[in-house]
Amino acid sequence: MKSDEGLAAHLETRERVGEKLVSPSAQRNCGPIGQTLAPFLPENAHVLEIASGTGQHGAHMCGLRADIHWQMSDIDAPSRASQNAYALDFPKQMRPSLPLDMMLEGWWQAVSGIDVIYCANMIHIAPWEAALGLAQGCARLLQNGGMLCLYGPFLLEEDSAVSNLEFDHSLKGRNPKWGVRTLESVKHIFADRGLNLRTAIEMPRNNLFLVFALEPKSEI
Ligand SMILES: C[S@@+](CC[C@H](N)C(=O)[O-])C[C@H]1O[C@@H](n2cnc3c(N)ncnc32)[C@H](O)[C@@H]1O
Repeated sequence: MKSDEGLAAHLETRERVGEKLVSPSAQRNCGPIGQTLAPFLPENAHVLEIASGTGQHGAHMCGLRADIHWQMSDIDAPSRASQNAYALDFPKQMRPSLPLDMMLEGWWQAVSGIDVIYCANMIHIAPWEAALGLAQGCARLLQNGGMLCLYGPFLLEEDSAVSNLEFDHSLKGRNPKWGVRTLESVKHIFADRGLNLRTAIEMPRNNLFLVFALEPKSEI
């Protein structure tokens, strides 16, 4: 199934500076995410970013780590144009953005040689099938030991933050297929494909930074 629902998946007004879009929340998150993500990236890592939005996170990471290669992607064409503008600042590290749709079967065939996959703030602003597509693609693209870093809000049963419950409610009001996902359901779909949750780091504003590693399934 191809998705057209990512096209309105920006919840805030994005300012334009030349060809670059600037999202206030992406700007705010660059520092904390950068500090958290950088230690997980092996030297000379090839990183695939899913749902890169404006492109600010990738540009920030390439500024922090001159050794890494960062491939941005998004379903949304105006976002990809912005990502390409940021990529021009890092010609040795970034290539043009790819039009990857997590709901499109086989999306992973457009990519190869990836060590780490990074995805922020997508699975709650897309139908659940996008999370399933992400999990399927990670299992296809990563080698054993390869990592998925997933950032965003999650529901934690009775420990869910009020702000995340309210966010879930407002997302469902915009689109009944959207919604903040439970950590348990997310862990489950990745574990089913051999990606086990290794680390969960608390981030500002009740977000989590999750690190999954691809491991061979035991034969028990
Ligand atoms: C809230 S933005 C997050 C952007 C960026 N990752 C960040 O954290 O600032 C959500 C992004 O998910 C993208 N998106 C939505 N559905 C998608 C899908 N099915 N496949 C790939 N990207 C999708 C949207 O186009 C949008 O850029």
